[in-house]
Amino acid sequence: MTVALRANGVSLVLQDEPNQLPEIVHFGPDLGVEGVGGVEALMMASTPPVPRSAFDKPVALRLLPHEVDGWSGRPGLTAHRSGAAFSPSWSDVQVHQIDAQTASIEATDESFGLGLHTEVRLDDAGIVVIHHHITNLGDGVIDLAGLISIVPIPPTASEVLDLTGRWCGERRIQRSDLQMGGRIRESRRGRSGHDSAFVMVAGEPGFTERRGEVFAAHVAWSGDHLHMVDRLPEGAGRHAGALGGGELIRPGEVRLETDETYSAPPVLFAWSDRGLDGLTDRFHQHLRARTNHPQTLRPVTLNTWEAIYFDHDMERLGPIIDAAADIGVERIVLDDGWFTGRRDDTAGLGDWAVDAEVWPHGLAPYAERVRSHGMQVGLWVEPEMVNLDSDLAREHPDWVFAAPERTSTKEWRFQQVLDLSNPVAFEHVLSHLDTVLTDCAIDYLKWDHNRDLIEALDRDGIPAVRRQTLATYALMDELVARHPGLEIESCASGGGRVDLGILEHTVRVWASDSNDPLERQSIQRWTGLLLPPELVGTHVGPTSSHTSGRVTDLDFRCLTALWGHAGIEWDITKISVEERTRLAGWISLHKRLRPLLHTGRTVRGPEFDGAWLHGVVAQDLTHGVFSYVRLVSGAAAVPGLVRLHGLDPERMYAVRALDVTGREEVRIAGQAAATPPWTRHGVISSGDALMRRGLAMPVLDPMAGLLFEVSATDHEGC
Ligand code: DGJ
Repeated sequence: MTVALRANGVSLVLQDEPNQLPEIVHFGPDLGVEGVGGVEALMMASTPPVPRSAFDKPVALRLLPHEVDGWSGRPGLTAHRSGAAFSPSWSDVQVHQIDAQTASIEATDESFGLGLHTEVRLDDAGIVVIHHHITNLGDGVIDLAGLISIVPIPPTASEVLDLTGRWCGERRIQRSDLQMGGRIRESRRGRSGHDSAFVMVAGEPGFTERRGEVFAAHVAWSGDHLHMVDRLPEGAGRHAGALGGGELIRPGEVRLETDETYSAPPVLFAWSDRGLDGLTDRFHQHLRARTNHPQTLRPVTLNTWEAIYFDHDMERLGPIIDAAADIGVERIVLDDGWFTGRRDDTAGLGDWAVDAEVWPHGLAPYAERVRSHGMQVGLWVEPEMVNLDSDLAREHPDWVFAAPERTSTKEWRFQQVLDLSNPVAFEHVLSHLDTVLTDCAIDYLKWDHNRDLIEALDRDGIPAVRRQTLATYALMDELVARHPGLEIESCASGGGRVDLGILEHTVRVWASDSNDPLERQSIQRWTGLLLPPELVGTHVGPTSSHTSGRVTDLDFRCLTALWGHAGIEWDITKISVEERTRLAGWISLHKRLRPLLHTGRTVRGPEFDGAWLHGVVAQDLTHGVFSYVRLVSGAAAVPGLVRLHGLDPERMYAVRALDVTGREEVRIAGQAAATPPWTRHGVISSGDALMRRGLAMPVLDPMAGLLFEVSATDHEGC
């Protein structure tokens, strides 16, 4: 049976042989291949010669590649049963093309006692999702060490881009030549991690935001995982190597009893011949098509963290809530510090009851004050964590991961991790959170996770990251089931848990604890490689950033925070009337633009001489908003013409500069030495000229930017 899935300019072609898993003949551009004849012709044209000193038949890169097929890269499935290692001997392989975009594969390995079920789906966005499940069909336990999903890459994909990062410096890109042997990025942090590879891209050398053929993989999982690209001197049959990933499984972590099934995390694959923006387009379209993607306007949020920290006091908080309502905020989130014993970060985690000393009347006064303004009520929690200085840890020390005699060496922000794979601990946390949510009719949870998991072993010494990850997902789902409409944000010391696994259970990620707009420029830009703006929290913080000490202009902070699910994190009762008016202007601009920002196509230009351009263009190309930002000073005195992207070349567009905080006279966000005339009077130009010739940009000092909007002249705009 041959399978040829086709959608949105992409195709995936599989060919099976008797008693073999299907070979992945092609992943990439839609070649129009259909039917047995088409696949056979494609195979014939791409069958390689056999080199000297090699297997007598070309390597076949199969859905789960293995040595027996001639593949000496990372195997698709690694397992043993009582010391006898898995080597495939598949029988009864059933390959079904269910529709133009879906296939399923069933196979049995009778000698090892294993069943495989794989779903391969190519969605309307052109994203391929591979999802493997294996079942132990034999007697005795199977120890699983790895189950990864891959797609082939061509020899031209010889440059890799993946991400790394740290607290307050998430999503930094790194590029490298893809050498023989490939590249592997592992995360052993029990959460995806500030330094997660995030998306692994292999592409033509020198690929940019707008140019070059690129292949990408993302593992939709919040626990330990790996992304990899393997390249071998002898190639992989028709291909040069494989790109993919899966869960990183610790020894003893997955032991399948008879009839038990392990489901690997889904792995997403994207292809584009339009550089990184082409990948982004597909990822964003894929995410927006999910049934659980947020459908309502993303409420402008005020989070109390950088406003009051642990100083919970209605006398102080009440006026902040009132002021927030006054300037157009729609949701308040009461951050860390509301529960028993939590006067600072050394104590209280785990005791999920309202602190009667700080909140003598419970959280009702807070919730009522917020609701009286018609705003939504949010609350911070960190359910997977525990301070040893808490009633919970004192009463149930055995619920804490790892042997008690070793815990002191592994504290992180004075906290340990609660073993939620223990059903009693799970139930305890669930019922306490449920009570708080019920008592105060909470609309929104900011769900934090402030440390890595180190040696996360359960009471029997068995690695438990996988079970912990699944328990966290289950806890979120159960709370949402009990409180329909509840929305959850994934925060982990900022952007330590940003992945498409957690986003199946949440509607927003906190991209970073840094609200410093200069740091945020690049954090948001690269988070946006995978995530559309409506899923990424972006806040205006105080003038002096508490994480970097950098002092920045309010307009530049507003310009940076405009581009996501926007909010404020600042004591707005302590700022001037003028600043508050400007914040109100910014909120009203964001509200006007958010239907576009949260549905349009993200476009980016490369960083050039210390500045970059990015924007969002409506799907029908009638309207777009762009920001040109100088990060550092450049070599050139004048930036020259900067090309826009994503417009309709045939249309005429009216271009006008916008004031980011709503003043009548448009000002640059930050300092500008000189501005071109069109920023004062506007200009009308064709999409073709704007994209192929460009638009004059102001001479900006670092940390300054220009916001502007383009509207097709035959359209009313928004
Ligand atoms: C880390 C988060 O990322 C911050 O935004 C804040 O919620 C603190 N934790 C609270 O402890």
